[in-house]
Amino acid sequence: MSYEVAVLGAGKMGGTLIRGWLDGGVLEPQQIVATAAHRSRLDLLEQELGVAVELDNPTAVREASTVLLCVKPYQAAEVLSEVRDVLHADQLVVSIVASATTARLEASAGDGVPVIRVMPNTPSLVNAGMSVLSAGRWASEAHMDLVETLFRPLGRVQRLDEHHMDAVTGLSASGPAFIYVVIESLAEGGVKAGLPRSVATELAAQTVLGAAQMVLETGQHPALLKDAVTTPAGCTVDGLLTLEEGGLRVTLIKAVMEATRRARELIGPPD
Ligand SMILES: NC(=O)c1ccc[n+]([C@@H]2O[C@H](COP(=O)([O-])OP(=O)(O)OC[C@H]3O[C@@H](n4cnc5c(N)ncnc54)[C@H](OP(=O)(O)O)[C@@H]3O)[C@@H](O)[C@H]2O)c1
Repeated sequence: MSYEVAVLGAGKMGGTLIRGWLDGGVLEPQQIVATAAHRSRLDLLEQELGVAVELDNPTAVREASTVLLCVKPYQAAEVLSEVRDVLHADQLVVSIVASATTARLEASAGDGVPVIRVMPNTPSLVNAGMSVLSAGRWASEAHMDLVETLFRPLGRVQRLDEHHMDAVTGLSASGPAFIYVVIESLAEGGVKAGLPRSVATELAAQTVLGAAQMVLETGQHPALLKDAVTTPAGCTVDGLLTLEEGGLRVTLIKAVMEATRRARELIGPPD
C-alpha cells in the first residue's frame, strides 16, 4: 500500500489537519497513514477517521510520498533520525513543529531531502485556518505548490521568509486561544447585561467573525473600521475608553510578543 501523506504524530494538530483534508475532500482516508506513540490514540484515529494507522514511523514513511511531522518540538529530531534511513530525496518532509528550523530538520532528515516548514492553526478544522509556508534549502517551487495545494483548502496561505516563523507562531498559531478569551469575555459582558449565555456567545463569536471579515474583505485599516462604528458621544466610545483603561491593546501586544519569545526557545539549543 502506498500513501500520499504519512502524518507522524497525529495528535491535536495532526488530527485537525487530517480532519480538515477529509472533510474538504482534499484527501481520501486511504491516502493517509497516521502514527502516534500510543495504540489507544491510533485506535481512535482509525475508528473516527478511517485512515491507516501505524505505530512504527519508518514503516509509515517508507510507503508515503509526503511526510508530515507533527510531534512536539522536543521529539522532532528523534523522530526524524528514526526515519532517516528510509527517507529519500524523492519524498518531501513538511514540518508543522514550532521552533524547529528547516536547517535543523534537514540535518536530521539527511542530505538532499526537501523540507518545508508550515505553521498552521486550529481553525483549519473549519476551513478558516491561517497557514504560513517557508521553504528549506532543497525544497523547489513545485514542492511549495504541492504544500500550498494541501493547505489552501483549509483556509488562507502565505509564503514568508523563515525568519518570520516564530512571530507567526506567536500571532496566528497561538492567536486563536487569545481570541477565545476575547469571545468568552464579550459573552460574559452580554450575560452581565442580561442576555442568555447561549445568545451572548453566538453574538460575541459572530461579532468577532464579522469584524475579521470586514478587515480582510474591505482591506481597510482596523482603526478606520473602528471609527466607523464610533458615533460621537455614542455608546461605543464609552466602551472603547474602558478598553483603553483596562490596557487591552498593550496586553494583546505583549501576549503575541511573549508567545513569539517562547516559540524561539521551545526546541532548545542545537545538539
Ligand atoms: N496545537 C496547535 O494549535 C498547533 C498549531 C501549530 C503547530 N503546532 C505544532 O504541532 C505539533 C504538535 O502539537 P499538538 O498540539 O498536536 O501536540 P499533541 O496533541 O501532543 O500531538 C503530538 C502527537 O505526537 C505523538 N507522538 C509522540 N511521540 C511520538 C513518536 N515517537 N512517534 C510518533 N508519534 C509520536 C503523540 O502520540 P500519543 O497521542 O499517542 O501520545 C501525539 O499524538 C507541535 O510541534 C506544535 O508546535 C501546534
